[in-house]
Amino acid sequence: MSHQDADLAATFSQASLARTRQRSAEIDAEITKDPSRFRVLTGDRPTGKLHLGHYFGTLANRVKLQDRGVDTWVLVADYQVITDRDGVGPIRERVLSLVADYLACGIDPDRSTIFHHSAVPALNQLLLPFLSLVTESELHRNPTVKAELEATDGRAMSGLLLTYPVHQAADILFCRANLVPVGKDQLPHLEQARVIANRFDKRYGRADQDRPVFRRPEALLSEAAALLGTDGYKMSKSRRNTIELGMDADTTAKVLKKAVTDSDRHITYDPENRPEVANLLLIASLCSGEDPAALAAQIGDGGGGKLKAVTTEAVNEFLAPIRARRAELIADEGYLLKVLAAGNARANEVADQTLADVRTAMNMDY
Ligand code: TRP
Repeated sequence: MSHQDADLAATFSQASLARTRQRSAEIDAEITKDPSRFRVLTGDRPTGKLHLGHYFGTLANRVKLQDRGVDTWVLVADYQVITDRDGVGPIRERVLSLVADYLACGIDPDRSTIFHHSAVPALNQLLLPFLSLVTESELHRNPTVKAELEATDGRAMSGLLLTYPVHQAADILFCRANLVPVGKDQLPHLEQARVIANRFDKRYGRADQDRPVFRRPEALLSEAAALLGTDGYKMSKSRRNTIELGMDADTTAKVLKKAVTDSDRHITYDPENRPEVANLLLIASLCSGEDPAALAAQIGDGGGGKLKAVTTEAVNEFLAPIRARRAELIADEGYLLKVLAAGNARANEVADQTLADVRTAMNMDY
């Protein structure tokens, strides 16, 4: 068990994780019945290019929710970039690249709202009343923040790293999202958002409580297995072991050729004992729709070389249309900016209304 998992387990007992899973299944059935009851909010930090782990972990699921008729909001979390590093990096390029990734994968700007933190002042202003509702020691106990601080190799805790879960609560609560698709590392943040909504309404809400200011967001827990990168560790941009959505076919082949496997030439699908080989089979399977064990049987004694060739072909074939669309989008900066501007306008409208409600509840509407 990794450090982070151990901490998470301490906070979220297996029992509560099981309850969240159970509830996610119920929500899924409710979506089928009436998608209009839900507003989804998810987001990404624009810190680098999206990769296959993102695609199969979250992006495909967002597109599916959108296509099932759920009102889907996608946040480019630009203020969250500076939680754990000194500067924003090539932020403009990264924001546009993220928007291109979204659109290329099937997020439809006519049905979904794509926006970014720094364009929505009223969202950010919610941070002030929200911060008054949490204690310092509570913030210090957040297991995901602790794990993220540890991952920085000895940086000091910044005020923003400590408080970003409160900012993330503003991301969710400002637009009255009631559904947040997340992996389990984000569950503490979602709990923090619910706590803040409860405390705000308790402190400032109308006595009868029939019209709370905020909705209570729920998690839609993703069950997708985390993909491993080419080095056998979790696929992650900071490890530089990823297959980026926007890579070209030759680079993909080169990167996969260097992937770690093992010395047994007979290929079998055995995630427990042969994690690296199983991971390549899983990637090939997700991309081709074929069963990973069947793929292994086809490769047989072909060894790592054949396995990598099969995986490369599956990945390149699967990503080809996404890559073509992405290349077109990246070349059309004006269009990407237009999509963001439209999303920001919609987000501002909703954020202004929420902030007005907050100020009214706090008797600050003079
Ligand atoms: N913290 C999230 C991550 O690292 C990104 C994010 C920002 C987010 N705001 C959000 C996710 C609101 C869900 C809801 O992946």
